[in-house]
Amino acid sequence: MAWHTAIMGATGAVGTEFIRLLEERDFPVKSLKLLASSRSAGRKLKFRGEDLVVEELTEKSFAGVELVLASAGGSLSRKFAPAAIAAGAIVVDNTSAFRMDPEVPLVVPEVNPRDIAKHKGLIANPNCSTIIMNVPVWPLHKARPIRRLVISTYQAASGAGAAAMEELKAAARAMLDGKEFQPKVLPHMAAFNVFSHNSEVGPNGYNFEEMKMLLETRKIFHEPDILITATCVRVPVLRAHSESINIEFTGPVTEDEVRQILAGAPGVRVVDDRVRNYFPMPLDASGQNDVLVGRIRGDMSQPGGCGIELFVSGDQIRKGAALNAVQIAELL
Ligand code: A2P
Repeated sequence: MAWHTAIMGATGAVGTEFIRLLEERDFPVKSLKLLASSRSAGRKLKFRGEDLVVEELTEKSFAGVELVLASAGGSLSRKFAPAAIAAGAIVVDNTSAFRMDPEVPLVVPEVNPRDIAKHKGLIANPNCSTIIMNVPVWPLHKARPIRRLVISTYQAASGAGAAAMEELKAAARAMLDGKEFQPKVLPHMAAFNVFSHNSEVGPNGYNFEEMKMLLETRKIFHEPDILITATCVRVPVLRAHSESINIEFTGPVTEDEVRQILAGAPGVRVVDDRVRNYFPMPLDASGQNDVLVGRIRGDMSQPGGCGIELFVSGDQIRKGAALNAVQIAELL
């Protein structure tokens, strides 16, 4: 079986990665439609050696389309996903528009692949920081139940799209040249700086990114009571997110046990060399499919050996977005 496929947001950071992944993974594509805004209509992008012309996204774009990979933003998914489904397509949506809808499966293939079977035309791809944390944490939770997670993120510019990546590069150049720089895409100076995640801050003081990590993980794990607190921060990195993850298990767990579970976990690569002081880094994770995991150690502040510390890096555009969505499509 091969699919008549469309990419919504084909010119963006995640959209262009969709094209690369469909090619790289030899996904069964019967035809490929590239959809973006009117600004990009007529632009050509290569797929399997052929030039494909980008078309403007409209409600009529979906005639004959069987699979839509969507990453053009939440409001566009809200507007166009119903038209795609009505035209008979299955939508794998990378935006936050439908993630918490109880009718919509929210899937990390390494965690809850069976949830896909319940779809009604739409499957949601989780938030990037959530996916990158879930991939190593799930196999540990399955082996030894987790009570609480305390997470700090170090998030790349790519999470805010291709324009934010360009802004980080331009900001770095301006800083080095001693020139003034006015940020337009991100709220603050991205180069040589660190700032709290640019999503809205809610009445409880948590920003939306932090709340996504809590609410989405509970849904993906089918664990409505797992305790999670997160602090999400942008760092001057182009395309891979890192996270410090403190885990409190319900009983004692050894570092060796954790190391063994992670060594055999799908989508995980252990990078944990204490002698060389070599651990996960965003530059090493960039362009990789696996989430790199290291700094594996017992949390000495936890009584009874119930705590473990991890540091992870994962490519935000790949596993955090496009790769996870293509893996969902492969399961379909
Ligand atoms: P365009 O390049 O034409 O603006 P990113 O997440 O990297 O910012 O990418 C967003 C994607 O969503 C791009 O492909 C962008 O296309 C697309 N997009 C943005 N606004 C619209 C719109 N109004 N209609 C269709 N596609 C849009």
